[in-house]
This record gives sequence, structure tokens and C-alpha cells, in this order.
Amino acid sequence: VVIRDENVARAVPSPLPGAPSLTFPAGERHKTRETWAALTDQMLAREIGRDAVVVAIGGGVTTDLAGFVAAAYLRGVPWIAVPTSTLGMIDAAVGGKTGVDTPAGKNLVGAFHQPGAVFCDPDVLRTLPEANFRDGLVEAIKHAAALDAGYGAWLETHAAAVLARDAGTLATLVHRSVELKGDVVADDEREAGRRAVLNAGHTVGHAVEHASGYALRHGEAVGIGLMVETRVAEALGLCEGGTASRIEHLLAVFGIPATIPPGLSPDLVLQAMRADKKNRAGVVRAALLASFGRVRHDGDDWTTAFPLDQVAKSLR
Ligand SMILES: NC(=O)c1ccc[n+]([C@@H]2O[C@H](COP(=O)([O-])OP(=O)(O)OC[C@H]3O[C@@H](n4cnc5c(N)ncnc54)[C@H](O)[C@@H]3O)[C@@H](O)[C@H]2O)c1
Ligand SMILES: [Zn+2]
Repeated sequence: VVIRDENVARAVPSPLPGAPSLTFPAGERHKTRETWAALTDQMLAREIGRDAVVVAIGGGVTTDLAGFVAAAYLRGVPWIAVPTSTLGMIDAAVGGKTGVDTPAGKNLVGAFHQPGAVFCDPDVLRTLPEANFRDGLVEAIKHAAALDAGYGAWLETHAAAVLARDAGTLATLVHRSVELKGDVVADDEREAGRRAVLNAGHTVGHAVEHASGYALRHGEAVGIGLMVETRVAEALGLCEGGTASRIEHLLAVFGIPATIPPGLSPDLVLQAMRADKKNRAGVVRAALLASFGRVRHDGDDWTTAFPLDQVAKSLR
């Protein structure tokens, strides 16, 4: 059973013309239990049995949603991910997290269900809109900042070829990012410890994304989050000096903003952080960098506590 959203169904032909093909309307707002129910109902109506394999072709919305269809259909059938966005290839399709959004928040209902295989073809990225293309690159910058300084240097020197969507260069980028994320996930599939390093930039990033009313894209918010969290770490003497400016340079090379837009008040971001139940008593925990390419940790604890006040200073 091939599952694609309507945009991808137009841009990327099904590699399995004989297989049943289901589509759903594109966009995060359709990553819901309702769409999940519509897809599973269509599979039941077609009497698709336990010998089925779900083939999810699309961005992170599609692989999350179709992976969750596979996780639950007849108590679970195998699935294959064919990510078609940069974010999908280097992030969403790796690690086995599947699920949907609910009115209470994003990704709150789902399952761990590893795909049997993930196929990435950098050629399909040609039709991906530019903003989506750059969005995913921020996760590659995150992989470099948190896990591999050498990869950061490679990204800097290959930025032009990446932005020109040279297929060979993109293949190398996808390969290295998948290797880095895959290694972390293999260590800590259920996020008990080290998987937290993949959240670098995301603690402040999610608050920025939320405070902007989702006017900022996820990647833009995470870029800003990485900058703010690293400036905080530097200010507290927890991170090697010059790390934030290296990240700033990388973001600039890829044309990604490093500061919150003038219209967005830092107070709104702080409000969003305070509203998060995890940030009790003005203290935040996040995966902070120790230096470019390395996350601080204390044994198995890969997050560091810091006062919310510091975030305010850094945001301003
Ligand atoms: N499971 C995980 O571990 C994980 C990790 C990170 C993100 N995610 C999820 O990923 C989602 C975001 O993924 P996304 O940015 O890929 O969003 P998306 O799936 O909505 O894709 C972005 C847009 O690009 C279009 N598109 C995708 N590939 C295309 C192509 N090749 N040509 C033309 N158009 C194409 C889509 O139709 C969509 O409009 C979020 O829901 C997020 O929660 C999951
Ligand atoms: Zn992210």
C-alpha cells in the first residue's frame, strides 16, 4: 500500500504502479487521528490483509502518519519509508518514531515502529519547495554542532553545492546525517539518555516556534534555538568560547536567520518556556553544547540545567 500526500502524489510517481495507492491532503494540520482513521478505513475497505507492507513516500508528515498506520493496522504490519524532503531523509524517517498530532500538542499519540528499510533518492529533492529544503538543512547543522565538528567543516565548504541541490553532494549529506542520527538512536532507541542530544536547539527552538504562532518554520526556530542555547552555555562558562559564532556562520552560509525577527517579543518566547511543565521554578534543562561538535553530559544525563533568566538575556 503506497501512501503519499497530494503534493507528493503529483511530484513523485509511485514506484509500485500495481499496488494500492492512498493519498491524503498535504500539511501538518492533516497529521491527525482523523487522517489516520481515513487511511486505515480505506485499507480495511479494500480488504488488505496481514501480508501488506505500507510504503510511505513523502515528507516527515507522511512517514510519521503512514508509519503509525502500519504500527496499528491489524496490530502491526511492516513498513518502508521513502522520505522525499530533506527533513524526512535526515531526521523524520530515521529512528522509528511514528505518530500524529492532537489538539493538546504535536506528536502526542503514536508508537515506536521501525521501518524495515529507508530509501533516499536525492533526485526527488529537486521538486521540494526552497523553504522546505532549507528547513531540513538546519537539522544537518544541528547534527554537526552536536556530534561532529568535521561534518560542520564539510557543510561550510559544500554549502553552495548543497544549495544548488547537486545530487552527489546531497547524497553525502544525507548519508552522514543518517549515520550520526542512526548511531545515537541505536544507542538509546527509547530516549532514556543519549537520544536527548538530538534535541539540541529544540528546547528554546520549540518555544520560539510556538511564540511566533508557527509563523517561523521549524528549521528557522531551531536555528535560533541553537544560537540562544549556545550563547547561554557560553555565558555560564559551560561551553567553549566561539562556539555560538561558528553556528552563526554556518547558519549564514545556508541563508538561515540566527536571531528572532524584530516583530517577535522575547517575552512571548519566555512565556512559552514558562508554560512548559518541564521548566519548573525558572529552571530549564536542555542538551547544551560543550564545544562545537560535542554535547555536555554528566554520565548518562545528557541535559544541563540553567536559569530561564539567562535565556531572556541571550534572546535580547
Ligand atoms: N519521527 C521523527 O523522529 C521526526 C523527526 C523530525 C520531524 N518529524 C516530523 O516531520 C514533520 C515535518 O516534515 P516535513 O518538513 O518533511 O513536512 P511535510 O511532510 O509536510 O513536507 C513538507 C512539504 O513538502 C511537500 N513535499 C515533500 N516532498 C516533496 C517533493 N519531493 N517534491 C515536492 N513537494 C514535496 C509536502 O507535500 C509538504 O507540502 C513534522 O510533522 C515533524 O513532527 C518527525
Ligand atoms: Zn527538529
